[in-house]
Amino acid sequence: MSLKATQEIDTVKVTASKIDTIDFENLSFGNVFTDHMLVCDFKDGEWQKPQITPYAPFLLDPSAKVFHYGQAIFEGMKAYKDENDAIWLFRPDQNYERFNKSAERMAMPRVPEDVFIDGLKQLINLEKDWVKKGMGNSLYIRPFMIAIGSGVIAAPSTQYRFMIILSPAKSYYSGEVKVIIADHYSRAANGGIGAAKAAGNYSAQFYPTKLANERGFQQIIWTDDATHTLLEEAGTMNVFFRINDTLYTAPASERILDGVTRKSLISLAERDGIKMEVRPVLVSEIVEAAKNGTLKEIFGAGTAAVVNPIVGFSFADVYYELPKIEDSIALQLKDKLTNIQYKTAEDTFGWTVKI
Ligand code: COI
Repeated sequence: MSLKATQEIDTVKVTASKIDTIDFENLSFGNVFTDHMLVCDFKDGEWQKPQITPYAPFLLDPSAKVFHYGQAIFEGMKAYKDENDAIWLFRPDQNYERFNKSAERMAMPRVPEDVFIDGLKQLINLEKDWVKKGMGNSLYIRPFMIAIGSGVIAAPSTQYRFMIILSPAKSYYSGEVKVIIADHYSRAANGGIGAAKAAGNYSAQFYPTKLANERGFQQIIWTDDATHTLLEEAGTMNVFFRINDTLYTAPASERILDGVTRKSLISLAERDGIKMEVRPVLVSEIVEAAKNGTLKEIFGAGTAAVVNPIVGFSFADVYYELPKIEDSIALQLKDKLTNIQYKTAEDTFGWTVKI
């Protein structure tokens, strides 16, 4: 995918940047946004001209379909600054393709490359001072699309708004992550929207996750809705399990998001001779491995969370603590991945794209 700008996007700049008021050392994820945003509307059957404008609230009709039927999708991406002040995206083609797959599943129009990719490039160029150098610093990119057409008839909208907002980020999880393995609630079902980054996939997790939080757990590892015997994903992350020296992760499916970090870790493991099996993972084999001491690690992988070790899990009201180990494969893979993202290691895959 090229990142060439085909046309200048109309831009209205802020009169004064708020960047000097931001404490970049103490960011909590997703709360601070940069000075500008990209907006592009779809109406009369076509995309209008995109615009970059000051970051600001906007008005919608109370009957806009996004409010009533949740016709909304998003992506999560990051930009990184290297030691020479160049800014890089990581596999933006994957996010672009997945965004349009989500759009199709939610009966929304495809967003053209010159809106998504050129828009992203020009917006980040304008906001380059917001991308801070140094491992762990990044600019989180949130492209999203909502149905803005009015009328509460339950049918797809004819008008949409595509936007990109940017948020300087450090880590997503601030402390240890303990998870509950789901045995009642479900995130996705066959034929549903689990593989799409649809807003409703996330809000549907809020209630069971709130119950888990009340019990001292940060996340849920979702299982298949029919039998609750297969381990799927953690909602904000895909999940990997290490038994002895082999990593296991479930195949992407119509219930499991095809995560960009997930597929990158699989490629890194394969390149570097780490034993990796992509196959359905049974709850029972993980519980058994935890009991007999062969379960060494569980970790989540996602754009926002990067690679996040899980310290323990609960299943059927029994808590299993993961061992503290010296040779964490999660941390090795995290280093390999972030070194590519921050351009401190050679990108043998051609994943990084300069802005
Ligand atoms: C991401 O990792 O970018 C995601 O989309 C997860 C989100 C809930 C923060």
